[in-house]
Amino acid sequence: MNADERFKKLIAHAKEYGFIFPSSEIYDGLAAVYDYGQLGVELKNNIKASWWNAMVRQHDNIVGLDSAIFMHPRIWEASGHVGAFNDPLIDNRDSKKRYRADMLVEEHAAKIEEKIEKEVEKARQKFGASFDEAHFRATNVNVQRHLVKILEIRVRLNAALQANDFKALRQLIIDCEIPCPVSGSRNWTEVRQFNLMFSTRIGSVSDEASQIYLRPETAQGIFVNFLNVQKSGRMKIPFGIAQIGKAFRNEIIARQFIFRMREFEQMEMQFFVRPGEEMKWFKYWKEERMRWHRSIGLGDEKYRFHNHDKLAHYANAAVDIEFEFPFGFKELEGIHSRTDYDLSRHQEFSGRKLQYFDPETGESYVPYVVETSIGLDRMFLAALSAAYCEETLDNGEERVVLRIPAALAPVKVAVLPLVKKDGLPEYARELLQSLRTDFNCQYDEKDSIGKRYRRQDAIGTPFCITIDHQTLKDDTVTVRYRNSMTQDRVSADMLPLIVAAGCRQSQRPLQSNL
Ligand code: GAP
Repeated sequence: MNADERFKKLIAHAKEYGFIFPSSEIYDGLAAVYDYGQLGVELKNNIKASWWNAMVRQHDNIVGLDSAIFMHPRIWEASGHVGAFNDPLIDNRDSKKRYRADMLVEEHAAKIEEKIEKEVEKARQKFGASFDEAHFRATNVNVQRHLVKILEIRVRLNAALQANDFKALRQLIIDCEIPCPVSGSRNWTEVRQFNLMFSTRIGSVSDEASQIYLRPETAQGIFVNFLNVQKSGRMKIPFGIAQIGKAFRNEIIARQFIFRMREFEQMEMQFFVRPGEEMKWFKYWKEERMRWHRSIGLGDEKYRFHNHDKLAHYANAAVDIEFEFPFGFKELEGIHSRTDYDLSRHQEFSGRKLQYFDPETGESYVPYVVETSIGLDRMFLAALSAAYCEETLDNGEERVVLRIPAALAPVKVAVLPLVKKDGLPEYARELLQSLRTDFNCQYDEKDSIGKRYRRQDAIGTPFCITIDHQTLKDDTVTVRYRNSMTQDRVSADMLPLIVAAGCRQSQRPLQSNL
């Protein structure tokens, strides 16, 4: 099964088991908008709780916020989103399809990278055990030719984007002979800018002044509340404000399931620091955020850093944490050193002072900001795609299992009476009731025990508890573990401890040195 087929299966699985549904499906759906089902919302809440715990609860100097989605429209002028939150678009005149010009070029470069991988694979098969991959990559003429081409393309792309030179961007598409994926033709229009913010009107009067935007990031709600939080919470620099909330972007390329959506959720934290100390904190948060990712338990090899060549208008340093999604390594989280850009601009546009008096230095200044920003939906996709496994068991049976870390699993415990009689369901219901206060549990008495285990495997339940006739005699139950499928006979009293320990162990301890 190739990566594409596996991804399609994952999407179908997410729908079949109530994780994610296409929005407005009975009306044929709404592109790039999705609804989270009964298990999806549990997984999402568990991811939020893990992030909130690591960022807010574990730090004395980071507090939370829940700011409104609607904000004064001048905020988006000050932040630069009205003027600069644009994508370069190009249309194909034959297919009438619209594309992001930079993505067409990136995808073209990715295809050349695939050619390199094919060359390497061919050579590996030819030379067998004696194959020296590093030497081959460094010396093979074809590989080197492809690498030079990719480098040339990336240099030209970055230069064009940096200078907002759309003629040069179009010329690059022409020179690379990139065809439209739909029509196959190279009949391209000029490249144009397209603003990604959704706008709507507030109140009953429909005039220019009533136009407002749906926020494209949660960060600005934090900036405009900087002084409210600092003063009311008596916060001392360095300190952070964290927020989880919806953001909206009119994405043109809306593909890859919940990776790029028009309505999505962000988990952002703005860390306010002394001017001149931002690089120290940038490095700190880069490492700290990677530590959180690794503590989740999706696999260290699935993450990597990617330094930005082109910096956003507000940043003096930026790095992405990329995750290996089913379609390759892509951005999961951004860490940005945003300088004093945002607070200074809000100071200028609002006419209000947004300064901090530092009791240690006796100076007032506009703090610098280091931001960590992760898409909740992308983290969800990371967890789901890393967890999805199709296995053939020793007895030849197939099982689909979601190996979601126990701490994130939507359902922690399934309580299963072996048969639907002899008082077993009554015992099971009582046990369910006692576990429910601490863990999200499911009760299931339908079908054979094997089928019930499979259903729980498919939704990632780490613990299945079976009640049998022995249970009625001595209050012992069988615990069946999802990953290993091994079973233990334990006293029912021990269950809360076993489940809690399993959830703790699934996440490595996060040692913060802040
Ligand atoms: N405040 C900074 C900011 O918003 P960003 O790189 O544009 O920076 C941060 O977005 C994160 O939000 C991304 O790393 C990604 O995880 C998530 N994100 C951005 N656009 C998204 C979209 N259209 N759909 C889903 N997640 C998105």
